[in-house]
Amino acid sequence: MTLKNIPNHLAVIMDGNGRWAKKRNLDRICGHIEGIKSLKSVIKGVIEHKIKYLTVYAFSSENWQRPSEEVDSLMQLLDEYIRLELPYLIKNKIRLNFIGNIGRIPEESKSTLLEAVKKTKNFGALNLTLALSYGSKEEILNAVSKIAEDFKEGRIDIEDINDGFFSSYLYTAGIPDPDFLIRTSGECRLSNFMLYQAAYTELYFTKTLWPDFRKKNLTAALKNYEKRVRKFGKTEI
Ligand code: IPE
Ligand code: IPE
Ligand code: MG
Repeated sequence: MTLKNIPNHLAVIMDGNGRWAKKRNLDRICGHIEGIKSLKSVIKGVIEHKIKYLTVYAFSSENWQRPSEEVDSLMQLLDEYIRLELPYLIKNKIRLNFIGNIGRIPEESKSTLLEAVKKTKNFGALNLTLALSYGSKEEILNAVSKIAEDFKEGRIDIEDINDGFFSSYLYTAGIPDPDFLIRTSGECRLSNFMLYQAAYTELYFTKTLWPDFRKKNLTAALKNYEKRVRKFGKTEI
């Protein structure tokens, strides 16, 4: 199906894995495993709809506070997902990237990630970005520190500081701001995701839990986006 108006950059907060598992009396990790199936299905949909940028919130800076068994399982799943999906990424010319403080990611998962980033760096049919150990407040503070350092060293002037300049100091440097953001599971908040970048993003909240959110749900969300009128503070034309 061809939609008239497709977002250039789609961002997704993949939430509700734990509740999906709880409803079935399963371990939370089973929800995360099923969630990976949703991610694969959504990526297929994103390719079909010819969306250029997809960013998925996979693990927040606050998620480190979860019980260590869950954190360990998630890091292992990340490793497995990238290993198993790499051939698919290469076949479909998908460039894999990440945003976040990956210094905290365990060595093995980190090297799998960095290897996949390297192997896909010349692709661009789709830019798939994993937000891992990502926190927007941390990202903004980090940018401010780097700008202060560059100013102190005389590399920049105060007049240089504008939106484009500031964006280039964020983890998302080079990635356009998201046009559309989907959050599953019924929570209506950003949970420290893209606070600067989402200034004019169209938001879509659905009660569907992430493991139940598949390609057809994406199409329904995109149909909703198709009807949105984006005004950016101007009058409607
Ligand atoms: C989202 O699902 C995945 C991560 C945050 C890693 P949750 O694990 O937050 O699931 P709920 O919100 O507890 O249902
Ligand atoms: C946001 O979900 C982070 C990810 C989906 C990776 P959380 O489940 O961590 O968010 P809160 O705690 O409900 O705000
Ligand atoms: Mg959650």
